Amino acid sequence: MSRNKLVLASLLIAVAFVASATIATAAPIVIKFSHVVAENTPKGQMANKFKELVDQRLGGKVVVEVFPNSQLFGDNKVLEAMILGDVQLAAPSLSKFEKYTDSLQIFDLPFLFNDMAAVEKFQQGPVGQKMLMSMKKKGLIGLGYLHNGMKQLSASDPLRVPADAKGKKFRIMTSDVLEEQFKAVDAMPLKKPFSEVFTLLQTKAIDGQENTWSNIYSKKFYEVQPYITESNHGVLDYLVITSAEFWMGLPDDIRTEVKKALDEAIAFGNDVSEKKAVVDKQKIIDSKRSEVIELTPAERQQWVEAMKPVWKKFEKKIGKEYIDAAVASN
Ligand code: SIN
Repeated sequence: MSRNKLVLASLLIAVAFVASATIATAAPIVIKFSHVVAENTPKGQMANKFKELVDQRLGGKVVVEVFPNSQLFGDNKVLEAMILGDVQLAAPSLSKFEKYTDSLQIFDLPFLFNDMAAVEKFQQGPVGQKMLMSMKKKGLIGLGYLHNGMKQLSASDPLRVPADAKGKKFRIMTSDVLEEQFKAVDAMPLKKPFSEVFTLLQTKAIDGQENTWSNIYSKKFYEVQPYITESNHGVLDYLVITSAEFWMGLPDDIRTEVKKALDEAIAFGNDVSEKKAVVDKQKIIDSKRSEVIELTPAERQQWVEAMKPVWKKFEKKIGKEYIDAAVASN
């Protein structure tokens, strides 16, 4: 072999070596999953399950980092951060998207869904599935719905009929529908981040709030709220969301596997939510820190009549055909 050929061969070997080393040590794709609740909740457990499944199936290629309890971002900042590429996955409550889309406001309409079976039917039906893509132009893609459950009303005084809420301050999520819902019973709604609710209740800066059994239990709201009315007046579910740029930039095979893991984690989280709605309610009752008030049908009907006119106010924005489809899922 001539000297030139020898040099060329050595060069080719060196290039091949560097290329294979680069492939072997290619940095994994990092998925930061930010959420605001505790780990012992449907969302917390779903996020951890997703990490576990991705570790098992895509270990080395994809790394999931879960940040619970608003450690990375609160719900008010997470969507902006996602568009900027600082976080890849989140599952804010459906009430927290109004800056990005009108259609998801449907989930906040009071007394729209009779139960979680109706919510599931609507979400999996044509309208619910269409809504997943309602923010695509703004750079966000919905990957699926995750349940938490029906909301209850907690307060410093017993709430049996709408008149009991008059003049009281309630923390709400950032939703104009929820604002109108509390105004409909002459209460004073205040939009505040989830991370501040416990302190606001403890210091009596507010009188009450609405949430699911698992959030009331895991964030200890029941320790500072002597009464919880089992109103089931609305739903608190989540949209698992990602950035369109990140999602479409994933290699096809990785995207398929990640989506499969996510669907399985969501199914797992939905199971957890069903169980927690029962178990966490019972734990609250057993604690004797808070009295759970069951409404008579006549009392509940008063709440329905007071709050349901809110639907009309949002009918144009949300779309009557969407509301009709939700009612039909009951
Ligand atoms: C959550 O469940 O993610 C938080 C709900 C809330 O802000 O009340």
